[in-house]
Amino acid sequence: MQKELYLAAGCFWGAEHFFKQIDGVTFTEVGFANGHTVNPTYQEVYTDTTGYAETVHLRYDPLRVSLRFLLEMYFKAIDPTSLNQQGEDRGTRYRTGIYYTDPADLPLIRYLMAEEAKHYGLPLQVEVLPLTNFYRAEDYHQDYLDANPAGYCHLPVELFAYARNNSDTATHEKCERYNLLLRQLTSLAEGETDLVALMANTAALLHDTFHFWWTGFYRVVGEELLLGPFQGPVACMHIGYGRGVCGTAWQQRSTVVVPDVEAFPGHIACSAASRSEIVVPIFDKENIVAVLDIDSQHHATFDDCDRHYLEQLAAILFRPASII
Ligand code: SME
Repeated sequence: MQKELYLAAGCFWGAEHFFKQIDGVTFTEVGFANGHTVNPTYQEVYTDTTGYAETVHLRYDPLRVSLRFLLEMYFKAIDPTSLNQQGEDRGTRYRTGIYYTDPADLPLIRYLMAEEAKHYGLPLQVEVLPLTNFYRAEDYHQDYLDANPAGYCHLPVELFAYARNNSDTATHEKCERYNLLLRQLTSLAEGETDLVALMANTAALLHDTFHFWWTGFYRVVGEELLLGPFQGPVACMHIGYGRGVCGTAWQQRSTVVVPDVEAFPGHIACSAASRSEIVVPIFDKENIVAVLDIDSQHHATFDDCDRHYLEQLAAILFRPASII
């Protein structure tokens, strides 16, 4: 599994060298993002009139490194309160920016930006925008510090060692737990065809493994979602199509990850203690028959790793043949 992210962090020579040290980052290249000319050259961008920001294009494996970990690393490599200047490099081409290609990443980016802002008494100057365009820079800018170890760099060498020596162990551990859980569930579910029985044990195992706040299912019954097997406190029983996170996942026919429930318009607060949530639809061929809903007492608990494994779980356990 691969995801993409474009990060502007000042001079892209040091920025690329920093990001490529991070375990789980599988590809980097440097280039120019979100400007308004075609095929810009470095010399053109250097004039600071093209609108481009020096940017690192990253690919990463979200089962090895989370977006959260990457952005925490990013914040260590920039001064997020500085407008159009990082180190001694000045100009709009050196502005900081998080340019995303997956709109599903935006809620978490916004949440982490707000958390980061709490450390400063100043507004953050980091742009958060969808990527509108990106042009790869000339070859001699790629892996610049590998080719020129004594070359100019606005970042301290300690930062590179830090990126090399710290990996996202939380994500590694979470994936291991999901792998084990999927094996357990597969054997538990063997030969079982009753949907409610499968849901009951799935909710119990997930809840026991991860100690979530609420773990359970809503079944599609007629025109609404009706509460199914769950673990956790008493919950709302009926949810309409398109209502709340659950009804939205049903309507959009895809997983919805909510890092901060208060920032999700229409969130249904069954419990005031819930802070973040993930809802995964369960398909029988083309039809959604239920949703798996998990709530956490902590913000930003769920990410692409949870999404990946919970979607797998939904596909394994509730494949058409097992539903009566
Ligand atoms: N918060 C959900 C409602 C279900 S409870 O979380 C158990 C929603 O907004 O759909």
